[in-house]
Amino acid sequence: MSTNNQPLMDYIPNRHLLSLSGTPYFWNINGIRKDGDKAIVSGWALPAGGRIRSSNILIDGNKRGRVNFSENETVARLYPWWPNARMSQFSLEVSVAEFDLMAREEIVVESTSAETSDGGRRNKTAFYFRPADMQSAFPDEVISSRIGTNNPFQFSMSGLTLARQFTRVFEAATERKWTDNDMICDWGCGSGRVARHIVRDLAPHQEFIGFDIDGPAVEWATRHIAPMFRQTEMEPPLPFDAGGIDVVYAYSVFTHLTLPHIRKWVSEMARVIKKGGHFIFTILSDTALVALMPYADEALIAQFSSQGGYDIVKNAQLESINVSGDYYRNAWYTKNVIRNELQELFEVLLIEENFHFYQDVVVCRRR
Ligand SMILES: C[S@@+](CC[C@H](N)C(=O)[O-])C[C@H]1O[C@@H](n2cnc3c(N)ncnc32)[C@H](O)[C@@H]1O
Repeated sequence: MSTNNQPLMDYIPNRHLLSLSGTPYFWNINGIRKDGDKAIVSGWALPAGGRIRSSNILIDGNKRGRVNFSENETVARLYPWWPNARMSQFSLEVSVAEFDLMAREEIVVESTSAETSDGGRRNKTAFYFRPADMQSAFPDEVISSRIGTNNPFQFSMSGLTLARQFTRVFEAATERKWTDNDMICDWGCGSGRVARHIVRDLAPHQEFIGFDIDGPAVEWATRHIAPMFRQTEMEPPLPFDAGGIDVVYAYSVFTHLTLPHIRKWVSEMARVIKKGGHFIFTILSDTALVALMPYADEALIAQFSSQGGYDIVKNAQLESINVSGDYYRNAWYTKNVIRNELQELFEVLLIEENFHFYQDVVVCRRR
């Protein structure tokens, strides 16, 4: 985070127990709709630098209309440590005559600080959206609730955003192009929220495979996206030849596993990923602990800091497919614990905090 956010560190609870390198910043788009001769983009953005009305919303790199801010009680409750979080709701009206965003193939929406001292710093998280995707099929509520989103707009926007962000960090960390990967794997693909965009953009020489333990989600993805998804088991191995994969990406899978399971899956990834290939996955680390548990007591955070993990919270989201909370957890680990698990088989190239909301991303290379 730039220096103009530094004073915000003072508001972070328990920060003396954590190894935060930046204040976690969040914003989100709740919806984009057409209203007569306008498109309305609505969402919330924590006030840049804690100052009211200090955020700009850019579409395809430009200001496209006036942003109005109002109160959002939920955001105030979620981020009590962020000054003026209550004034985070925004609405942006874009005139169709000036910029017909609903007619664009793909748009990128960013929030920036209106501060001039830092040249209008862009927040790292950009959201991507393809208006035409709203015409696509969406998984029903039962399937989509298992990944925590049953809103078609969020499913579509977050899926494309994650696809774009995975390719961005891959290219930034490896100095290779995404298209250099001949075989791409989405491990823990669910119903293909991210994969549908990766598959659509495959170059002719590229192949894809998606794996998940969620049978109905895999079946849905096979029917609505492509026949490139397979149901697999909670335990290794994957039905794939050793060294056959160039890159595996996994969104929010290790965030649900205990360390013994992570250990087994790291060694399985080392089996299926070719030497010099890459593994990209998200974790919940200390940044997430602050964001998700602002009132966590000191004992919990002290335990997290000294033991490097906190995985006792059982998650019931997969009970409908008979996966119990004994296996499926909400799990937080320090970056050092994750580094230790990887170091023998993988070289860590990048850990980016708050890659997608409170999840950090790890990019590593098979030794
Ligand atoms: C939070 S969801 C994320 C789904 C998907 N990555 C997305 O972003 O939409 C976590 C996924 O991991 C899957 N999962 C958990 N353990 C797994 C395992 N051992 N092998 C494959 N998938 C697994 C779950 O079934 C679930 O679909």
